[in-house]
Amino acid sequence: MTKLGIILSSARPNRVGEKVSHWVRDAVPTGVDVDLIDLREVALPAFDETHSPKAEQPRTTAHALAWAERIAALDAVVILTPQYNGAYPGALKNAIDFLYTEWAQLPTLLVGYGWGDAGEVLPMLEALMTRVGADVVSTIGLGFREDLSVEGELFVREDRTAALREQLSAITAKAPVSVS
Ligand SMILES: Cc1cc2nc3c(=O)[nH]c(=O)nc-3n(C[C@H](O)[C@H](O)[C@H](O)COP(=O)(O)O)c2cc1C
Repeated sequence: MTKLGIILSSARPNRVGEKVSHWVRDAVPTGVDVDLIDLREVALPAFDETHSPKAEQPRTTAHALAWAERIAALDAVVILTPQYNGAYPGALKNAIDFLYTEWAQLPTLLVGYGWGDAGEVLPMLEALMTRVGADVVSTIGLGFREDLSVEGELFVREDRTAALREQLSAITAKAPVSVS
């Protein structure tokens, strides 16, 4: 079965990201297995490996090995990002930095939320994921006022929900078909 990861990158106790993750999960096509990856629970320390993951040296920490295994098991991923000072949360950058080959060619959809349809963070995250070799298929930006309230009430525009369904189908359709 196709496995889709949904990465929730905010750690705040009152995070809006949790509601956004439900909006994404509810639009996942049937027959797709979802791994909701909460970076608050993954709780990686600041990058502490001996080598750059790009150097393809053996990993030295249990947390890096476990994180690599979790992402390697995915066929596609949706990364949710708030906009913090015009960028992504530090925890998300750290989690991305821990890996390299695991991101390569991974069909990826980026979902941002913030003021101005998350128009600052999405190009930055797209550049980062492209740099680590992910196959960024699309980005969707949700705006405070237009799609959600700052308290986390969602009233997402129809075109955004339609785009989400379409792009989830697109990234999960890219997953390799298993031959039995
Ligand atoms: C440290 C910090 C910086 C922020 N900077 C921005 C910003 O530059 N642009 C923006 O649209 N919203 C900004 N916000 C507002 C967040 O987008 C908003 O709080 C959002 O709900 C954060 O996502 P979360 O609730 O899932 O953590 C910022 C919030 C925080 C906590």
